Amino acid sequence: MSKSRIVFASKNRDKYREMVFLLREAPVELLFGPEVTKVDIQVQETGNSYSENALHKASAWSEILNMPALADDSGIEVTALCNEPGVHSARIAEDDELRILWVLNKLNGVENREARFVASIALVLPKMSQVWLTVGICYGKVSQVKKGDNGFGYDPIFVPKGYEKTFAELEAEVKNRISHRYIAAKALCDMFKSQNVLE
Ligand code: IMP
Repeated sequence: MSKSRIVFASKNRDKYREMVFLLREAPVELLFGPEVTKVDIQVQETGNSYSENALHKASAWSEILNMPALADDSGIEVTALCNEPGVHSARIAEDDELRILWVLNKLNGVENREARFVASIALVLPKMSQVWLTVGICYGKVSQVKKGDNGFGYDPIFVPKGYEKTFAELEAEVKNRISHRYIAAKALCDMFKSQNVLE
């Protein structure tokens, strides 16, 4: 299958690089949004689910640029906090440091530290009138204190199941083999494999 050009509906270059890596075996050429258009596309993440937000972003970029678009959305769900912060993960406090404190303070004295990262990827294919949605979940727990310097966001307080270290202590290579985004991207790659034609 020849490579299809798909715009990545985000202005975050780190996210873009990660997605290019995760989709390296898929028959797609992923283009960085701001390199495709000078238009300042703003999409509010006001949905009630990761898939809704991802779909919203991919649809907006696809409609404006009239081409296939791919977007993702993710967050951390803490069982003892009724799955909060969830879709609000990026907005519960001003920066990563304060967001981590928010979770640790809420879990102060709480025994159940169970948590999971969830990611959803949406691919909008306008000519085929199709939307592909995948979801990936990475189970684990919230550590007592933050540890490690790798990664971003909640990585310093998330210990994936089967490991003793936080994502921020583990090598990026390990995270990329088990993460929620990896699982969602792998599902998308499998969908590409079962498809003969793409627009
Ligand atoms: P978004 O998907 O970029 O909107 O991210 C939502 C929120 O979840 C942000 O606060 C991210 O830092 C956080 N988040 C999503 N994925 C990860 C991850 O793999 N590690 C750490 N934090 C993450």
